Amino acid sequence: MNLFAKKSIHSLLVQADPSEKSLKRTLGSWALVSLGIGAIIGAGLFVRTAAAAADHAGPAVTIGFIVAAVGCALAGLCYAEFASMIPIAGSAYTYTYATVGEFFAWIIGWDLILEYGVGAATVGIAWSEYFNNLLVNVLHVSAIPYQWCHSPFQTSIDGVNGIINLPALFIIGVLSLLLIRGTQESAMVNNIIVITKVSIVILIIICGWGFINSANHTPYIPAATTYIDPNGISHAFGGITGILGAAGVVFFAFIGFDAVSTAAQEAKNPSRDMPIGILGSLVVCTVLYLLFSHVLTGLGTTEDFRTTGREASVAFVINKYMPGFEWLGSLVTVAILAGFSSVILVMLLGQSRVFYSMSNDGLLPKLFSEVHPKYKTPWKSNQVLFLIAGAFAAFIPGDIVGEMTSIGTLFAFILVCIGVIILRKKEPNMPRAFKTPWVPFVPILGAIVCLAMIYGLGWTNWLRLLAWLAIGLIIYFTYSVKHSHLNNSK
Ligand code: ALA
Repeated sequence: MNLFAKKSIHSLLVQADPSEKSLKRTLGSWALVSLGIGAIIGAGLFVRTAAAAADHAGPAVTIGFIVAAVGCALAGLCYAEFASMIPIAGSAYTYTYATVGEFFAWIIGWDLILEYGVGAATVGIAWSEYFNNLLVNVLHVSAIPYQWCHSPFQTSIDGVNGIINLPALFIIGVLSLLLIRGTQESAMVNNIIVITKVSIVILIIICGWGFINSANHTPYIPAATTYIDPNGISHAFGGITGILGAAGVVFFAFIGFDAVSTAAQEAKNPSRDMPIGILGSLVVCTVLYLLFSHVLTGLGTTEDFRTTGREASVAFVINKYMPGFEWLGSLVTVAILAGFSSVILVMLLGQSRVFYSMSNDGLLPKLFSEVHPKYKTPWKSNQVLFLIAGAFAAFIPGDIVGEMTSIGTLFAFILVCIGVIILRKKEPNMPRAFKTPWVPFVPILGAIVCLAMIYGLGWTNWLRLLAWLAIGLIIYFTYSVKHSHLNNSK
C-alpha cells in the first residue's frame, strides 16, 4: 500500500476523454469572467446572506463578504496554477492525484462531496423556500404545509414539526433526471441566466436603496454576544468572531468560481486571462454582493431575519418594506427559481464528474463510472447522487447543509494552497502556464484567511467536518486502498 502513489500526467492524458484533450483555446478574459459570474450567484446571496446577518453579524455581513472574497481570491490564484499544470479539464481531485498522491486525492475527492453534493442540497432547500413564496405571493394559492417543506429538525414559530422537505427533493430529482438524459445547459441558456441574475441584483440595489432605514444599520458592527437560534444552536454574534462566522456562511455565495480555473485549457492566453477571469469575476461579484447585502440589511431588521423573514428573505423585505414594488418581489421570485435550478444542475454535474474519476481510479465502486448505453451519461452515479443529495435536502435543515458546504470547501481550498507550495519544491521544473504570484506568501495567506473562516463557523461545524472526514477514512482504508488501480497495478 502506497498512500503517496501518484498518477503520471502521461496516464492522465491517455485516460482523458478525447474531447478534453482537444479543447480549443477560445476563451478570452471576459468570457472567463462571465463563466465565473454564472457559476456563483445563487443561494449564497439570496438566502444565506439573511442567515449570516441573523446568526452572526447583523449589517456587518458586508464585512464578512469582503473577508470571504479575499480568501477566495488568494485560493483562486493557487487553483489557477494547478489547473494550468495539468493539461486536461479536471478538478482539485485530479490535480492532487497527479501531484501529491492518492491519499490526499481521496481526502479532497471525499471533501468535494460536501462542496458539490451537499451544496446542491443547500440550493435545493433554498429553491423550496422561494417555491413556497411563488405559491403564496405570486400565484396567490395556499402554501405547502410547513411539515412537508421542512426537515424533521425544524419547528415553526407556532410549534409545527417538519417531516420532509418535498419541494427540495423534487427539484433535485427533476434535475438528476435531466442529467441522466444528458441535458446540459447550452452556452446561450447560461448567458441568459447570467444576465437575468445580474440584472435582478442590480434592480434590487437601485430600487431598494431609497428605502434603506439607517436605524437598521446602527450599530453597523453589533457588540459581541451569544445568540441561541430557535433550534437551540448557539452562535457567536457580533464583534470580530461574528464577522468571521458571517464570512464562513456567505463564503457559500462565492463557491463555483473555481469553475474558471478548470477552464484553463480553453483560455487563449492562460497567464494573462486566468488571473483576470478569476479575480475579475470575484471583483464584480464582491461589489454586487456588498451593495446587495447593504440594501438587504438596511431594509429588514436582524429580528426579521431571525423570524418570519428568515425564509425567502429577499421577497420578504421587498413585500414588507418597499410598498409599490410587489412586481419586483414576483420578478425576483421567478428569476431566483430559474437561477437556483442552473446552480443545482452545475453542482450535480460537477459531483458526478468527481465520482466518475474516483471510480475510474478504483477508489469508488465501478457503478459510479458505468455509462448509460443510450444516453452516454454516468446514470447510476446520478441515481446514487440523487439519493445522497436528496436525503440531505429532504431531512437536514438548510443552515446545517449550507455551513457544511462552506466548511468542506474551505478545507479543500486550504489543501490546494498548501499543495502549490509543496509542488514548487517537489516539481520546480514542471511547466506551468500560469504561476501563482508571490509564493509562498499568497498561498500561506490564503490558507490563513480560509482557516479564520473555519474558526468563525464554530465548533458544531468543526465536529461535522471531522465526522465527515472520519467516515471518508474508514471507506478509504476498508475499500479504496484494496481496489485502487494505481496501488494494485504494480
Ligand atoms: N455560489 C453558489 C450559490 O450561492 C453555490 O448558490
